[in-house]
Amino acid sequence: MGPGDLSDILCGIEIPTDSSVLVGIEGFDDAGVYKLNEEIALVQSIDFFTPVVNDPYWFGQIAASNAMSDIYAMGGIPKTAMNIVCFSPKKFGLEVLKEILRGGIEKIKEAKAVLIGGHSVDDEEMKYGLAVTGIVNPAKVIKNEGARPGDLLVLTKPIGSGILTTAIKAEILKEEEVLYVIRIMAELNDKASRLMLSVGSHAATDVTGFGLIGHLKEMIKENIGVELYVEKVPIMDGALELAKSGFIPGGLYRNRDYFKKDVINLSQGPIYDLLFDPQTSGGLLFAVPEERVDNLREDSVKLGVKIWIIGKFTSENRGKIALL
Ligand code: CO
Repeated sequence: MGPGDLSDILCGIEIPTDSSVLVGIEGFDDAGVYKLNEEIALVQSIDFFTPVVNDPYWFGQIAASNAMSDIYAMGGIPKTAMNIVCFSPKKFGLEVLKEILRGGIEKIKEAKAVLIGGHSVDDEEMKYGLAVTGIVNPAKVIKNEGARPGDLLVLTKPIGSGILTTAIKAEILKEEEVLYVIRIMAELNDKASRLMLSVGSHAATDVTGFGLIGHLKEMIKENIGVELYVEKVPIMDGALELAKSGFIPGGLYRNRDYFKKDVINLSQGPIYDLLFDPQTSGGLLFAVPEERVDNLREDSVKLGVKIWIIGKFTSENRGKIALL
């Protein structure tokens, strides 16, 4: 599904809401936000998917990190998590499920959240993920829109996990190459979120299935433009070479078809393909006021978060991503 498709499906159906809903389903935000009182709002999200790597323990870690990332992207802190399990014990064996859940719990612990339940269904195609509830100050919710002209665009993880996991499925990567991409995907966006809050970010999202361009489009909508410095976009080791040799996930083509109308100066070649590569548990993508760039650099070192400044928001070219 493209990001517009769900709203097409729901068209004509009245969605229940009330004045406590601070972020609902309309803006394609990472999570919903519901205000409980002046100090606390709930941030809620759910995400699950089929294995992206062969090792069940790592799959559990990656799926849990990915699910909690949406809470971090809103400026929230995950508090409770529930397992979503689609699994056939007869086909895969309970040992495999135990490893998946162990990986997920590892990440929930690292996030200082708790596991309070879950639900499983028998399914021949295994899937795992979490429903996560976090908290946020209602006045400090960071939505995907809200970037201002002049804000810098920051990314906290390299892209290329769609291409690399396609290569993992084709079993052509060496063990250390597999571990390299696994570690990046399993990394929590907790510190990246603290960094984004410490520098007064106006807008943020995380990079997942719609790729860098798709999620950047959610940040600008038709309100504002953005320049993207293609050469500055961090790319995972090996991803360019793999793209050249044709390890392109189907989702990349779908993203490119869907979003190419929003891109200025789009060319052919692996580096341009990568901009549309669907990510699993990608980094945070956020807008930072230009005058805070020194803070950004200092705090990123303090917190141990990698950052790349990959663009700038503009008042020109509204709704467009101009590649430079
Ligand atoms: Co997201």
